[in-house]
Amino acid sequence: MDQSARPTSRLPGFYQKPVAERLEAVAAWAGLSDHDLEQLRTGLTVELADRMVENVVGVFALPLGVGVNFLINGRDYLIPMAVEEPSVIAAVSNAARLARAGGGFAAGSSEPVMIGQVQLLDVPDFPRAAQAIQEAEAELARLVNSLHPGIVHRGGGFRGLEVRPLLDTPAGPMLVVHLLLDCRDAMGANAVNTAAEAAAPLLERLSGGRARLRILSNLTDRRLAWAECRIPASAFDADGLAGDDVVQGIAEANAFAWADPYRAATHNKGIMNGIDPVAIATGNDWRAIEAGAHAYAARSGQYRSLTDWHVVYTENGLQLAGRIELPLAVGIVGGATRVHPTAQVALKILGVESAQELAAVMAAVGLAQNLSALRALAAEGIQRGHMALHARQVALAAGAPPHLVDQIAARLVAEGQIRPARAAELVSEVLERA
Ligand code: MEV
Repeated sequence: MDQSARPTSRLPGFYQKPVAERLEAVAAWAGLSDHDLEQLRTGLTVELADRMVENVVGVFALPLGVGVNFLINGRDYLIPMAVEEPSVIAAVSNAARLARAGGGFAAGSSEPVMIGQVQLLDVPDFPRAAQAIQEAEAELARLVNSLHPGIVHRGGGFRGLEVRPLLDTPAGPMLVVHLLLDCRDAMGANAVNTAAEAAAPLLERLSGGRARLRILSNLTDRRLAWAECRIPASAFDADGLAGDDVVQGIAEANAFAWADPYRAATHNKGIMNGIDPVAIATGNDWRAIEAGAHAYAARSGQYRSLTDWHVVYTENGLQLAGRIELPLAVGIVGGATRVHPTAQVALKILGVESAQELAAVMAAVGLAQNLSALRALAAEGIQRGHMALHARQVALAAGAPPHLVDQIAARLVAEGQIRPARAAELVSEVLERA
């Protein structure tokens, strides 16, 4: 669709609509075809699943929701998210709405350069081997590029090499060679692994050593994405809470995660609450993304928060400034992204034109998810929102008809006991009266 003609993603009341109406709204917003809607309804079939992995006995479904209100680099986005945890999508949409008060998110990503590692053992002379490998860079470039003409044609390909001696390991000294490969719109795992395997014999000859592992690194620190936002503190004024105090609390919460790995693990988990569902919805490898994110969080030697939040004093009052930066090796072609019918539709809803754009959007989603968690933790605490959503699930499980779910959930919350037995009582009571 014509991106400039995109309507706003600020969709008040979207969450209150019935599923069919939400779908209609998203279909109109993203220009989905009847075929796309059919793909969404059918989802992954067992037949297709059987061609994707081994020993298939069924498919496992997850809720697919849409994060709303996102404004990133001046462009509106709806964010497809596949996730089982209640409150994630509501929270991220809420944070995206807050960020709009400061003009939304500014986000970007580096060139999509992946790292392939070749481990060389029994290298007789490290400095000589390193020099020989560096001098063979052009030959390695030709070799790697010859394997991937498609990637080269699209502007990617070999981007250089690094030689890293690891002198003190349990298996003795070893030399590690990094092959850098710009994978363009592919996540690139296959391309990088093929390149590492193909380059290994030449690296053995050049180093006089023996190659063992030839595999990509998931610490894709050449393939980073980042997002930033600046929000006036007044946007956080709510429910008798002063925005100035809330933004101060968010900065203090971030400082806690910066300083303490126990807190940082939870803080970063909250960030991945936003990023993983987009990875899953678009058919990307979320384990790879998780591995990269956590390794990057520990790059200083201490595991820290992936975000930074601080308060800025301006003439117009306090502002909250936030930034996230993390490796995001994601693709929009190849793998499950191409095969999974729902992933295809999810990408259409996102409307991203490159893997780099997808990475930037995902960074903004991670920052928004973190903002919503820290805002709640620093203000009323996380349980109030969670409990309201939990109550809806308990009401549904107790057999509340859809039009009565909210009413019964509200009673459960007001009574302070969100239990299945009480929900069942309320369902009978309400139905008797109806
Ligand atoms: C829950 O899934 C995520 C949070 O614990 C994240 C955080 O503590 O920052 C709320």
